Amino acid sequence: PTTAALDDHGVLTIGGVPVSEIAERHGTPAYVFDEVDFRARCAAFREAFHDFDVYYAGKAFLSRTTARIAEEAGLSLDVCTEGELAYAQAVGFPAERILMHGNNKSEAELAAALEYGVGRIVVDSFEELDRLHALVPHFPGSRPRVLLRVTVGVRADTHAYIATAHEDQKFGFSLVGGEAETAIRRVLDDGLLELRGLHSHIGSQILGTAGFEAAAKRLLELRARIAREGAELPELDLGGGFGIAYTPADEPTGPKEMADILRTVVARECAALGVGVPRLAIEPGRAIAGPSGVTLYRVGTVKHRQGIRTFVAVDGGMSDNVRTALYDASYSVRLAGRVSDAAPVLVRVVGKHCDAGDVVVRDDHLPGDVRPGDLLAVPGTGAYCRSLAHNYNQIPRPPVVAVADGRTREIVRRETIADLMGLDVG
Ligand code: LLP
Repeated sequence: PTTAALDDHGVLTIGGVPVSEIAERHGTPAYVFDEVDFRARCAAFREAFHDFDVYYAGKAFLSRTTARIAEEAGLSLDVCTEGELAYAQAVGFPAERILMHGNNKSEAELAAALEYGVGRIVVDSFEELDRLHALVPHFPGSRPRVLLRVTVGVRADTHAYIATAHEDQKFGFSLVGGEAETAIRRVLDDGLLELRGLHSHIGSQILGTAGFEAAAKRLLELRARIAREGAELPELDLGGGFGIAYTPADEPTGPKEMADILRTVVARECAALGVGVPRLAIEPGRAIAGPSGVTLYRVGTVKHRQGIRTFVAVDGGMSDNVRTALYDASYSVRLAGRVSDAAPVLVRVVGKHCDAGDVVVRDDHLPGDVRPGDLLAVPGTGAYCRSLAHNYNQIPRPPVVAVADGRTREIVRRETIADLMGLDVG
């Protein structure tokens, strides 16, 4: 987080609050959310992509607070389920600035989107086109503005589970066999729907620009073929996926550079194809929310395995951060509540779940005197940690504590065992 610093005693402070105080007030584990940092990233994307529509991808971390901040920063919002849409509605997010995603959207979800009057619906399949078409007459006066999600056949350089534009995956209309063109013609001929443009999302945690450039080119070629038949689609949405630095080895492309490259590639390609330049959109989630979050844990046990490594067990684990287990993600860890000049040792930070895959930080170093009671901080957990959190072993999910200007405030409270038991009505 941009507001992280060390106080006079070597204690990590975020938003002007020592983490020891955050832990005391709110308990551990806790997701600490640096509100100033989040606002700054919204603003940075808004500014760098000033001539684009910028949809904050709520799946990264959606709460009333983040929806409000994104709205105030002039961003639009990408939601992909009825549940995410409900958060947008709860803060009165302007409907025209909402884009509804999701593969396999249900009739109820599409109806909720039409009812609220969302600005764009990204359609992912022929079945969804049918469902949407059938619903429109129930919402008099509405003419949904549609984007079609296209599988552009680009293999993004990221983990297989989060690469989404090669052929062998579930999303979108394929370029192979003319599927995408068939879908485009169907919407163009559908008097109830308005086709605004094409969409692609090639994957997530992508550090370079080549995949986005390739995707833009393929979409633009397809768009040019359709334009030659008389329909020049006004919009092009290149999705999200911009990576962040989880460890010092990661070198992400910043928003400014990314915007310049995308703008240039699109302008050049359109000139070559002899078509007009479409209005561009992006959907960043991780790059906005990820760096704003730090998870705080308290150490419970330490096992020094001779000649192997030291296992440091904390009071959370794969239920608050499943990314290490699921995507083999890399995180770093630091001793946060005191200074130590003990020599560093190789550690694996593990949790308290009954699972050998319950690893939070696979490999990093901590001072050799790390001991029970110590506070640890794992940075870069603002995206896809609270939103992917689960209750394995009936462990309640941690709170999200917003910090700013020396104050703390829970924006998502800690779950209780009573919350969990309350679901069991048998
Ligand atoms: N737009 C669409 C259509 C998406 O599917 C996604 C993410 C985004 C935008 C935002 O992508 P971002 O900018 O955050 O990379 N759970 C995984 C990430 C899954 C991403 C799914 N879609 C993880 O923890 O790495």
